[in-house]
Amino acid sequence: MLELPVLELQDSALSAAPVQSGNTGRALYVETYGCQMNLNDTEIVQGIMAGAGYRLANSIEEADVVFLNTCAIRENAERKIHERLKHLRYWRKRKPELVVGVLGCMAERLRRNLLGEQGLVDLVVGPDEYRRLPELVERAFAGEQGIAVKLSRVETYDDITPLRTQGISAWISIMRGCDKFCTFCVVPFTRGRERSRPLESIVREAGQLWEQGFREVTLLGQNVNSYRDPHGQGDFADLLAAVAEAVPRMRIRYTTSHPYDMSDKLIETMAAYENICPYIHLPVQSGSDRILQLMNRHYTVAQYLERIEKIRTTIPGCALSTDIIVGFCTETEEDHQKTMELMEKVRYDGAYMFKYSPRENTKAWKWGDDVPDEVKSRRLEEIIELQNRISWEINQGEIGKVVEVLVEGPSKRDPAQWQGRTPTNKVVIFPHIGTQAGYVVGDLIHVRIERATSATLIGHVVA
Ligand code: 5AD
Ligand code: SF4
Repeated sequence: MLELPVLELQDSALSAAPVQSGNTGRALYVETYGCQMNLNDTEIVQGIMAGAGYRLANSIEEADVVFLNTCAIRENAERKIHERLKHLRYWRKRKPELVVGVLGCMAERLRRNLLGEQGLVDLVVGPDEYRRLPELVERAFAGEQGIAVKLSRVETYDDITPLRTQGISAWISIMRGCDKFCTFCVVPFTRGRERSRPLESIVREAGQLWEQGFREVTLLGQNVNSYRDPHGQGDFADLLAAVAEAVPRMRIRYTTSHPYDMSDKLIETMAAYENICPYIHLPVQSGSDRILQLMNRHYTVAQYLERIEKIRTTIPGCALSTDIIVGFCTETEEDHQKTMELMEKVRYDGAYMFKYSPRENTKAWKWGDDVPDEVKSRRLEEIIELQNRISWEINQGEIGKVVEVLVEGPSKRDPAQWQGRTPTNKVVIFPHIGTQAGYVVGDLIHVRIERATSATLIGHVVA
């Protein structure tokens, strides 16, 4: 096999050569997998490539360059991407000059191994090296494979304008990386050390988004509570307050928080501003103290519940969601029951639930994977069933209420029905009567809830 050039940036990524602008006549198609951070990273990549003269293609057929922005959090996510790469072979046959790049966490994790993927990949580029994409793509067109996977301590893409393509809701990435090192999680290895963007530039971006017609922003980070303005202007609560004041009619959300750093100040700041949505995603992972300690989560169940209590008393009606992993190494039936008990106590509005998937390099990788898959599947089913019941019960409580909804547009299933969200992040479906309706996408309207499932509220618009 050919020896491949390794193109690696130094930490001073911010001083990398600016991308040339102009029109290359070439079209880019990006497929995004995984978390919201990745969705925002795709917009950053699109921003960088647009700056270098690429236009966005609507499909692979139209594209000269295809990027898969990948996720490595669980083995399943990676399996899906390997499958997709095999499928792309078909397009490569039809269009031999097509450039295929793998970006994101899987690129960072697998590095060179991906270039060996049966000649299906031309480029492998990790999350901190996106500024190099135009140059690497150019080389790929000249027949050279490329890999750029150095992690940076400073790169935040602060000066890149993300190319957002649709909707009224925008993501703003406020920090990158994670220093928490939960023992199951590959993110600190694929996304590197924590670093924050300047407060001032985040506030400016929120203002520009309002001007452009966006009506909701979600401040994003792997662990937003660790945000620190590099210019000393404050912590995450200060940032949230500054954004809330700068765009007082914008709905403001954020994700993800770590329970350990969920400060009183942050909770009180949320309560103090009407435009900060009363919804918190607060991953608990397990309801067993022994497992939480093995996971290196830095809190006990009692401490977590105390935070929930503080949230509920300070922000009445605040919705809560969580992440839960079943079948972490050594998890017993008793540990599992404790997770179910915690779910009953908190009564989350929603939850993302996963089977533990061992990840190379993490601390837990060395501890093995001793819970059999059938047991994990059964435990997962049990918590999903429990959560569905709780979500259904909570949503039944919304029937008869009039809720404020930010109009998003036609629902995916039936364009005669439109959808939007409540401040608590619940999806609301309502019949749309066409242009006579008196509202447009991006408006705030009121809907009286008449029915509810575990996932959706259904009702009619009220004047
Ligand atoms: N296996 C299963 N789930 C995981 N998560 C992170 N790493 C793993 C893993 N190795 C889950 C956690 C985290 C969410 C984003 O993904 O619940 O909060
Ligand atoms: Fe992973 Fe833990 Fe960091 Fe979340 S806080 S990204 S689970 S290491």
